[in-house]
Formats: sequence, C-alpha cells, structure tokens
Amino acid sequence: MDKKTFYITTPIYYPSGKPHIGHSYCTLASDAIARYKRMQGYDVMFLTGTDEHGLKIEQKAEQQGITPKQYVDHTTQVFKDLWKLLNISNDRFIRTTDDYHVKAVQKIFNELYRRGEIYKGEYKGWYCTDCEAFWTETQLKDGMCPDCGRKVKIVSEEAYFFRLSHYADRLLKLYEDQPNFIQPESRKHEMISFIKQGLEDLCVSRTSFSWGIPVTFDPKHVVYVWLDALTNYITALGYGSDDDSDYKKFWPADVHFVGKEIVRFHTIIWPAMLMALDLPLPKQVYGHGWLLFGDGSKMSKSKGNVVDPTILCSRYGVDAIRYFLLREIPFGSDGLFTNEALINRINSDLANDLGNLLSRTTAMTEKYFGGRIPTEREAAPVDDELKAMALALRGKCDEAIDKYQFSNALAEIWKLISRTNKYIDETAPWVLGKDEAKQARLAAVLYNLCEALRIVSVLLKPFLPETSPKIQEQLGISGEAVTYESAGTWGVFPADAAVKKGAALFPRIDVDKEIEELNKLIPNPADPANAKPAQETKRTEKPEGIAQISIDDFSKVDLRAAKITACEPIKRSKKLLKLTLDDGMNGRTVASGISQWYKPEDLIGHTVIVVSNLKPAKLCGVESQGMILAADAADNDVRVVFVDGVPAGSKIR
Ligand code: ME8
Ligand code: MG
Repeated sequence: MDKKTFYITTPIYYPSGKPHIGHSYCTLASDAIARYKRMQGYDVMFLTGTDEHGLKIEQKAEQQGITPKQYVDHTTQVFKDLWKLLNISNDRFIRTTDDYHVKAVQKIFNELYRRGEIYKGEYKGWYCTDCEAFWTETQLKDGMCPDCGRKVKIVSEEAYFFRLSHYADRLLKLYEDQPNFIQPESRKHEMISFIKQGLEDLCVSRTSFSWGIPVTFDPKHVVYVWLDALTNYITALGYGSDDDSDYKKFWPADVHFVGKEIVRFHTIIWPAMLMALDLPLPKQVYGHGWLLFGDGSKMSKSKGNVVDPTILCSRYGVDAIRYFLLREIPFGSDGLFTNEALINRINSDLANDLGNLLSRTTAMTEKYFGGRIPTEREAAPVDDELKAMALALRGKCDEAIDKYQFSNALAEIWKLISRTNKYIDETAPWVLGKDEAKQARLAAVLYNLCEALRIVSVLLKPFLPETSPKIQEQLGISGEAVTYESAGTWGVFPADAAVKKGAALFPRIDVDKEIEELNKLIPNPADPANAKPAQETKRTEKPEGIAQISIDDFSKVDLRAAKITACEPIKRSKKLLKLTLDDGMNGRTVASGISQWYKPEDLIGHTVIVVSNLKPAKLCGVESQGMILAADAADNDVRVVFVDGVPAGSKIR
C-alpha cells in the first residue's frame, strides 16, 4: 500500500539580506514537523526556497553594480548554507528564478487571463517596496505601510488585475467549512474582518521595473511578485511542467507555515487564485508569531543580543538553538529572543536535566555492571509510575505535534526527563550498589533508567537530530530499539546493549562570562547611535549584514566638525557623558556612552565629528541630538575621533 503523504512548506524568503534567527525559526519549526512525520512513516515533502524577483532585489543589485541574477545567486547560497548548518532536511529548494518555475508561472498567468480571471486595467494606489504590497488609503497607518512602518508611494500605471473581489463570499465560506484552514484561531478573525471591509481586485503585473517574470503576451509587464511567489507551492511539485507526478502525489499541502504578517496573502489571495484555477486548496495555513529582539525601551548592554544564527551555532551547537526556539515560544505567539534566556535554557534543560540524566545513568551502569545490565532484575512498585509516564509519552507528543505545539511536545518530553531524575533520587542506586543482595534490584533500576532515556532519545530526534544519536550511542542502542514504533513500547532495551559513558551532551555555560563575551560581538547600545526608537525595536528586525552602500546612501549622513564646550556626567547613568557642542550652527547637546574611557576634562576644548542629522533620542533624561564618532580601538577600548583645528560646523564627507 502507498504510504500516506505529508506536504509542508515554509515561506520562500526574500534573499535581499542575510537570513537571521527569525527566518531560521520558521524553517526549524517546519523541519521538526517534517522529521517527525517521516519518523511516523509518512512520505514527506518538505519545501523551502527563495523569492528572488521584485523591485527591492533589482535596486539592491543596482547599488552593488551587479545584475539581479548575480545578486540572488550569491544571497540564495547564504540561505542554503545556513539551512545546511541548521540540519534542515528539506526535500526540495525552489528558487523563483528557476526555469521550470518561470515557465509554470507564465502558464498560470495565461490560463487565468484566458478564463477572464485576469483583465487589463489601470493601477493607482499606495505601494510598499519593502513588503512588495499594495495598500488602500484606509489601510495605511499614519500614512506608512501598516506592516513594516516604512514609507509607501503612489504608483500609477497600466496593469493586469486579478478578480479578487469576486471571491469574498467563497473565502468566508471556506473558513466556515474548514474551521482549521487558518490557525491559530485569532488570525482567522483578523482575516474575516479584513474581507468584510471589502476586497478589491488585485494588481498582478507591473511595468515600473523589469526584474520579474515577463507576461508572455504583453512583455513590458512582469508578474507581480506575490502571484509569482505563492505559486511556488505547486510549481515546485511540477505543476505546469511535463512531469506533474509529484503535484498529483503531494498537493494539496497539509500545511503552509508562514509568519503572521503574510497570513493575509496565504489565506485570501492564494486560495482565491487556486479557486480561479479550479485547483484544490491547501488544508491549512499556520501563522506563527514573531521573534522580537532586544527588550523594547529597556535595551541595555547587559541584555545585549546576538541574533546571527551562525555565531550562535558556533558557540552553543545547532541543537541548543533548535531546542531553545521550539521550546521557549509557543508556536503562534510572539516571543522575546534574548541571549540570556537562551543560555539559561541550555544550562537548566539541556546540560542539567537531560545531560546529567544521561551521564549519571551511563556512569552507574558502567560502574556497577561494566556497561551491561544483568537480565536478572527485580521490579518494585516505585517503577510503575515511571513506566506509565514513559509509555504515554509518544501519544502526548503526537497530539502536540498534530497541533504544531512544539513547546508542549518538548515540555512533555522534559516531564519524563524530570520524573526519571527523580526516580534516581527515589531508588538511590548508590545505596543498592553497596549491597550484594540488592544486585537484581539495582539491575532493574538501571534498566528502567536506560529504557526511559531510550524513549526520550527517539522522540527527541526530530527536534535535536544531532543529540539524539549521541544519546543512543552512549546507551549502545540502534536499529529496532530506536524506531518510532519502539517508542510506544516498554521493555525494548536490548539485553546485550553495551552502555558507555561519553562526552557531556551540553557543557554548562558560565552565564555572566558568556554574556560579557557576547556583548563584545554586538554594538554598544549605550551609544546614542544604537539607541533605537522604542517603536522600531518592537518590530521584527531585518538585519541586512554589512551590505555595500551607494554614495547616495552615504550622503544622507550629515557629518560636521563640532567643538566640545562643556561636558558633565549624566547622573542617572554610569556610562553616559553629556556633551555641549559648538556645531557652527545653534549648538547642540549629545549624550555619549564613553565615561568609562574619558573624563570631562579630557574632552573639553577638543573638536570631534558629530552625526548631525541623527534622529534625536532621549537617553537617561537627556535629549541627545546626534552622536559623536569614536573607534572601537581594541576589546573594551574606545577612542573618540578628534579633529582639532577643523573649524566648528565644517562639513565632513
Ligand atoms: O515575506 N520572527 O519573505 P521574507 C519570526 N518572500 N519569523 C520571522 C521573523 C521574525 N522576526 N522574520 C522573518 C516574504 N521571519 C515573502 C514570502 S511566501 C510565498 C513569500 C520568517 O524574507 C517568517 O516566517 O520577508 C516570515 O513570514 C518570513 O520569515 C518572511 O520572510
Ligand atoms: Mg518580510
């Protein structure tokens, strides 16, 4: 009989910057599901990829003086490398520049046109380049893009439209007929009210830029990126190509995992497009929450944050990052990402609870029985609760996984880990070990410990694919003893397994020292330059790495020579000095986080460089109107750049 299939997708990411921990979050969650379903025996298709067309990419490439294709070839590789590092087990990786995708999108566009679902018209409206999204006047927030808060611009051009407005009723009916189509529940309500405000036809082509898939019958138009992007979920399976066997096998998708900001595209536009094509709809769209970085207004150096997944993996190992992201934040909710929370989880859950359980179990099995547990074993009533809990674990994990509640699945596994640790205290094997007459009882205790750890190791594998085999190796088990089926049975641990204590799974981290080390890797938030407006720190961060900038970008920064006329410490802060500057204009005040390196008398009378058009920020009660330039000369050594002799107010460029 054919195996049951399971098809899961991530968004295809814009390769317009370096992937950060937020992109990793959704990909890791999808990976855990894909691995779990494979373990359960499903024939899984796990798809991820990159969304490579659009104005933003075109502009970025132009800034770097390369072609858009050269640009995306490079940045897409960075995504692929990261997925490899994170042990992502995707079956396929789609690039929207792939030839088969381009052809299929053109076919789909033509078919929609042929059916009268796409027609030619005139587009006039607000457009956000960053989100590649159109907005109506009422949707704008304070005149800005309601999603990213950035500027929008009026666009007016000839364009093709998709009759989205025809689908409002069918979409509302879909949500009713398939109550799980949008998850979590709260997002469904948002979409319903969005539709009830009235759907307009959707502009699906552009003429204002060329980096996109050309419309075959009107080639000055390129296909609007969302039509191009959403169809990836079927073109990746061969839809619209000569071989659509995978499409027949895997479509409709079991679930699309997407961030909450793009639920709208996936639950309104995408199903409407599929309806227009008479194709089956995905079974579910799950809108997960955002990882928030920093802690809003209270960003301080001690809580500084490194969010580059590559750096985090190299310091703590991939599985620690996987564990933290899936355990700490309930899928669907927003959560704060901080290095402190990460390190605390590693220490308490991974190093202490799991790591110690394994090392105590293997050490005692070696010490008392040379690594092989005798078959003569004596049971006791205290064993029953542990056994029952271990036996129930698989069902609980299955249930949590079916609802995509990673955090609950891991919490259940950790309940068993804690119970097993408690069992060691209850049975005190070191006492039994001193008594010749208690050998059979001791054998039973160690057997039960190994057996509980075996079940834990099997169910942990989709989450911690590197750690699970390490546990199994120390327990001396493989094959039949580590299958999904075996995790639902007690008493599988083989009599001839050779238990051997190995290296610690997760070395404990000295929190204070580590935070100090991490802080050296990040910009100093005490510096006004890094004091982001609270609004901005609350949004998802889009770190771009150190991209090249054009001369135009640079010329946006107004640098001026300024003479320090007065300087005093700021009472409420240990780090800040308040500088009064003669900037050749009206004078200004700047707060600078340099009191560790400079006394006021070291500074007064000197001329420095000030970034004069930086948005003012309030720091410890002082309004800082700009920042002065200083060099990170060495670890923990900061030197202000002096330009003594340059007249105050001189422009520096
Ligand atoms: O939207 N927290 O691509 P994108 C959690 N190309 N998840 C985050 C995150 C954060 N801070 N930041 C990003 C696009 N993500 C389109 C998608 S799909 C047909 C086209 C994750 O590069 C989250 O899953 O902006 C989010 O939806 C996705 O990255 C957006 O990636
Ligand atoms: Mg985005």
